[in-house]
Amino acid sequence: MATINKNYNKLQKGYLFGEVSKLTQEFMKKNPSVEVLKLGVGDTTEPLTPTVIKGLHEGVKRLGNVKTYIGYQDAEGKEGNLRLLTALVNFYKKRNISLRMQEIFINDGAKTDLANIQSIFSLNNVVAISDPVYPAYLDTAVISGRTGKCVNGKYQGLVYMACNEKNNFVPNPPKQKVDIIYLCNPNNPTGSAATRKQLKAFVDYALKNKAVIIFDATYVEYISNKSLPKSIYEIPGAKKCAIEVNSFSKWAGFTGVRLGWTVVPMDLVIEKTKKGIVNGLWSRRQGTMFNGASNISQEGALAVLSPAGQKESKNLVGYYMKNAMLIKKALQKLGLKVFGGEHAPYIWVKTPRNLSSLQFFNKLLEEAYVVGTPGSGFGSEGESYLRLTAFGHRENIIKAVKSIQKNLKL
Ligand SMILES: Cc1ncc(COP(=O)(O)O)c(C=O)c1O
Repeated sequence: MATINKNYNKLQKGYLFGEVSKLTQEFMKKNPSVEVLKLGVGDTTEPLTPTVIKGLHEGVKRLGNVKTYIGYQDAEGKEGNLRLLTALVNFYKKRNISLRMQEIFINDGAKTDLANIQSIFSLNNVVAISDPVYPAYLDTAVISGRTGKCVNGKYQGLVYMACNEKNNFVPNPPKQKVDIIYLCNPNNPTGSAATRKQLKAFVDYALKNKAVIIFDATYVEYISNKSLPKSIYEIPGAKKCAIEVNSFSKWAGFTGVRLGWTVVPMDLVIEKTKKGIVNGLWSRRQGTMFNGASNISQEGALAVLSPAGQKESKNLVGYYMKNAMLIKKALQKLGLKVFGGEHAPYIWVKTPRNLSSLQFFNKLLEEAYVVGTPGSGFGSEGESYLRLTAFGHRENIIKAVKSIQKNLKL
């Protein structure tokens, strides 16, 4: 008799964005004449840039010619198109980080690898996550059986690293010994970005405890302060203890195109392994369970990494960050306490008068017709905060800001 993986029963509620969507749908049904302004889900809205479109067309063209057609690609191709791997090696070189092609694995977006990477580590490894944080790390730890039950909003067996006003929403390394540390930097949902010193504290911790850091760099291209690191490998020693997962989703509009990459350095060693073993395990896992990302998407990614593509993606990031600035300034003017919005497309709003996240979510929806995401959905430290996203067409952002200014009763 087949049985289910009962760990799924431990998951809390529906997936966060599903919950928000349900509440929004109910409001819209009750108020059909109202235009609801959605600043809830972190999905990109602006079209792909001309250089990327050209790259994608090039990918299609190559598939239509017998001389350039490729299927699964060759053995190395499973880990990605060699031209793309070379471009990524050069991308890191410009940041003074030297990587070999064998250390980079092309993925179909960061989420897949952020979740699947857990499969190469032993089930009794203790996982630490920031609180609040992007829910996928946590849910994967639950599904894979690395946690106990959820009691009062916290899973047994998991270590939570609090991010709050006291630490500027950047966590401190755990006090106890853990094995796998997820770091999301800049952080979704708080929008905070760690300094060199703060990341060094994690690298030092990981080296001392033979722990591995899974560094989610999905938003690094939004970092506006040149002194803040854009890769964990800017920190000396990080290649010995960190895996970096990145994506073209948020800075090049690839949320639907799907492409990213994962770095598993040869130098990475964890308890009882030698150099290259972890890299080999991931290569084996991908070879068995992944047949590579779309070769058309890979041509698009190559275009993103070209000089013209990088210039265009900077403008795209600039567009969303102007949205962030408009939202942030307007809310501050209303006297709300607002964080983030400088190194990430997320604005982290403290609820007024100690309202719960959900109360403020409903208030914003009912009074200003604006949809945010309750901070509590990202972890218990997110209670009494709300996340607004800067992903959106400018005209909608302006409408939302005006509606908040006019209608929200504070
Ligand atoms: C922190 C973080 N990591 C990863 C992802 C997933 O990115 P991708 O589209 O590359 O799978 C998201 C998407 O919202 C995210 O916010």
